Amino acid sequence: MTMEKITLNYARTLSFIDQACIDALSGDVELHHRALWEKTGKGNDFLGWVHLPGAIADADLKQMDETGQLLRDKKIDLLVVIGIGGSYLGAKAVIDALSDSFAAMKPQQAPLVLFAGQNIGEDYLFELRGLLKGKDYALMVISKSGTTTEPAIAFRLLKQDIEEKYGREEARTRIIAVTDASRGALRKLALSEGYQTFVIPDDVGGRYSVLTPVGLVAIATAGFDIRALVRGAADMAVNSGPQVPFSQNLPAQYAAVRNLLYRQGRMVEILVNYNPKLHYFSEWWKQLFGESEGKEGKGIFPASVDFTSDLHSMGQYIQEGERKLFETVLSIKSPDHEVVIPADADDLDGLNFLAGKRVDEVNKMAELGTTLAHVDGGVPNIRIEIPRLNEYYLGQLIYFFELACGISGYTLKVNPFDQPGVEAYKKNMFALLGKPGFENETRAIMDRLGE
Ligand code: PA5
Repeated sequence: MTMEKITLNYARTLSFIDQACIDALSGDVELHHRALWEKTGKGNDFLGWVHLPGAIADADLKQMDETGQLLRDKKIDLLVVIGIGGSYLGAKAVIDALSDSFAAMKPQQAPLVLFAGQNIGEDYLFELRGLLKGKDYALMVISKSGTTTEPAIAFRLLKQDIEEKYGREEARTRIIAVTDASRGALRKLALSEGYQTFVIPDDVGGRYSVLTPVGLVAIATAGFDIRALVRGAADMAVNSGPQVPFSQNLPAQYAAVRNLLYRQGRMVEILVNYNPKLHYFSEWWKQLFGESEGKEGKGIFPASVDFTSDLHSMGQYIQEGERKLFETVLSIKSPDHEVVIPADADDLDGLNFLAGKRVDEVNKMAELGTTLAHVDGGVPNIRIEIPRLNEYYLGQLIYFFELACGISGYTLKVNPFDQPGVEAYKKNMFALLGKPGFENETRAIMDRLGE
């Protein structure tokens, strides 16, 4: 069966930037693109994700699928995935995009996947632990470094709870650890306890890791087809490989257009969706681009909105506020279900002109009307069309953005694969909490705060 492809349309940026400028930048962009494949650019020890989709061994996919199946066979109610940043957002994005919007309230074939360790909210943890008391569950702890504070705190608590509930022996069979191959506290613990483990490849950074066990095991457990997800990504990798010319290379074109907009003062890119299931996909995208490009005093600020909901909150600003924005719209061509608007004998709401139309027709007209209004208001618009919201096309979209982000970061002349700025808050937090080894920082911060 020939699969459709996602498409990119930047025609509605061309009253803001010239096609000639895009063409002029294309040579540079192609060089940056090649640097990713040939590993000759900055951060080249973190480029494992570039070749990954086509290189995942069938045996590895089988093992991840089987782990998911085992958990489903156990008929557990919940899988709690403990992780933050790249060890959280990819799985959350894909599972939310593919799940029934009301899955939590309907009987399920597969366990519901919940998350912990993605914040330090005491109420969140209290309420989660309360919920888990009455549920049958398993834990999956994901941390590449094994030392990240947020998931470490959550795991310490939930590990105690699960051991109390099931006994240590049984708890061991209900805990899965996803961490790096050899280093770190989590690897040590997993080895000593005999947890089932999956390895995060050394050369894949957190925000590029959704197609490793970091994302795939949870996605498989939730009952989704990880082979189709990986196949979609692999097809996108082929369709945007080093031999593909700029004129056909969608991630390269997107990287060029957004860089040109940025050079014209478009500091904020808003990722727009018209399907609320994509809310967390935008969160994943924000981490990918924000952490990859926001450094050395540079970078487009990645923001997101869910339309049409947010047209009633953010729409005013986008239409008439500071003209520093551009939008990238994710548009799903065909929804999975059909809902037709009925006629009403009284027509008190005046909506009979919509009778017989599908809700999606209204949504699509809302999209087109909004796009035209925003472009008229001075907001350039990039449109990405996704044929269906399924595993295969999400795989395409994930790889599209990962590759575009790498190319775009190189075009911006930053290293898109490090995140040195993330350490600053940790240093202060550890100093404030009196972590051993941070005595000087504690003294300095206390002086600063006058305490
Ligand atoms: O993209 C990244 O590298 C980060 O967001 C990490 O994924 C995040 O900080 C979690 O790190 P770890 O998996 O080591 O706990």
